[in-house]
Amino acid sequence: MRIVVKFLQSNVGSANVRCDVTQVELARDPSSEPESLPGSEADGRDDQPWWRNAVVYQVYVRSFADANGDGVGDLAGVRSQLPYLRDLGVDALWFNPWYPSPLADNGYDIVDYRAIDPAFGTLDEAEQLISEARELGIRTIVDVVPNHVSNEHPWFKAALAAGPGSPERERFWFRTTEGPPNGWQSIFGGSAWTQVEDGEWYLHLFAPEQPDLNWTHPDVWAEHEDVLRFWFDRGVAGVRIDSAALLVKDPTLREPADEPGPGEHPFQDRDELHDIYRGWRAIANGYPEQRVLVGELWLPDAERLARYLRPDELHTAFNFDFLSCPWDRDALHASIESALAAHAPVDAPTTWVISNHDVTRPVTRYGRDDTSFSFQTKREGTPTDLARGTRRARAAALLSMALPGSMYVYQGEELGLPEVEDIPAERRRDPMWIRSGGVDPGRDGCRVPLPWSGDKPPFGFSGPDAAPPWLDPPGNWGSLTVAAQTEDPASMLSLYRTGLRLRRSAPWGRDAELRFVDAGENVLAFARGERFTCLVNFGSEPVALPADADVLIASNDLEGGAVPQDTTVWLCQAEAQAPTPAPPDRIGKEGR
Ligand code: GLC
Repeated sequence: MRIVVKFLQSNVGSANVRCDVTQVELARDPSSEPESLPGSEADGRDDQPWWRNAVVYQVYVRSFADANGDGVGDLAGVRSQLPYLRDLGVDALWFNPWYPSPLADNGYDIVDYRAIDPAFGTLDEAEQLISEARELGIRTIVDVVPNHVSNEHPWFKAALAAGPGSPERERFWFRTTEGPPNGWQSIFGGSAWTQVEDGEWYLHLFAPEQPDLNWTHPDVWAEHEDVLRFWFDRGVAGVRIDSAALLVKDPTLREPADEPGPGEHPFQDRDELHDIYRGWRAIANGYPEQRVLVGELWLPDAERLARYLRPDELHTAFNFDFLSCPWDRDALHASIESALAAHAPVDAPTTWVISNHDVTRPVTRYGRDDTSFSFQTKREGTPTDLARGTRRARAAALLSMALPGSMYVYQGEELGLPEVEDIPAERRRDPMWIRSGGVDPGRDGCRVPLPWSGDKPPFGFSGPDAAPPWLDPPGNWGSLTVAAQTEDPASMLSLYRTGLRLRRSAPWGRDAELRFVDAGENVLAFARGERFTCLVNFGSEPVALPADADVLIASNDLEGGAVPQDTTVWLCQAEAQAPTPAPPDRIGKEGR
């Protein structure tokens, strides 16, 4: 396999017939001043705020890099690898929760929102990390979890101690009933209610160790607004809001209808949520460089999602429709089209996401018969063609990079790591696995420590003589390490590095809107700007390129100058047009 890249060298001045990709930045200028990163509203060098087209890299600290040898990733490990992230070409890092936690849900059960888990480091180190990343031109986004706290959080401990009817219990959803107050089900399986010793029941939409907060209580509002300011004051550029559609509950605790209409569900997407986020936006707007709010909103309806992105609410939200979409031309076309259409009226950028710490790794998912993602159908042991999955994941990556808006890369995605499916039962940690009695494989398989170097576990994740990693990387990951892939121009890592570099150079020009073009029934193709076309071939027949097309990058080798199945190419044409087939011998020399 050979990565095909052509950086056009000429025509800088007479850019009428060429894409402007000559100024590809090989590395970020390390001298950039912390207060003048690209896209700062204040810096005046760019007409778009940075977050509208940022590449955000998701760091799952526990599995990123272990500097102190205890088998668990840490902030020192992240700091040591900042040059790797700069060279990858990302604009921001989103850190999964790094706060003290008893780990009932791997950190999404927080005891103290203003501290760092000692296994990861200290608050001082976090501040150093934020500023060191910033010096490299990389912003930081932290995860906030407003729906629930840990059952070891001081508020919940106080509520248990104070007993039924106490003001301390009003910050949560306690009820005195014979059995569970209603039939609501936990997202992790089983009843959403757990009884405490004095007989009261409390609500937890996730694990029992994650009691839900009562967002009608003023303390809950004030506390979270203060937590936002705490991190914003420490220089973080934004927050990712966990379970952002779940905070508000119908106080009558009624059962959901079979098919609830928009806004009618008793604990999802309730209209009162918008008031919370308007308050948060006002706080974010109060900083000279506006802080950014990113919502985790799993909502099936693109227009309901866009309501959260109105100009006085959140800035962006994860595009889970795209993430869940099967590798299918029509489905992807529809997903992209509906996301763009829903975001346009609120003038919010769309995001493009193919993986995160909750879902099956793309090379595995795309290698299955059912290439869509859903928690309900996720099962281990499903036959998987990893070579085919990897090919499609490469094509999906280049497709995502070409779309307008911002994109997310979950650590290890850039290495093409597969889902690890043979984790021994006693090592698994995910409550989804535990609470389903092992029916749901859980999410540990996409959270395995990153392989950095060497030919045997732990592949440089920890140093020599370190404790074993908290989850073992498979023994055959030697060819997937960062070191091995850095040397290989055909690797997934090289594809991400080159693709992101090209993306940064915006070969489509400024504010280039996307137009779908018709290139045949098995081809997804769109143009941006005057000369840029992205083309994905889903069909088994190779698609020839137009005569005047230069190939900027291709996700896989072209075949005789034509685009084979499950391959994405970026083209630069004299004028963007439908890439009508041309005889292979008329196609430019690139890409053979
Ligand atoms: C979000 C997180 C997930 C976590 C859940 C409960 O969906 O992404 O990892 O388990 O919220 O906090």
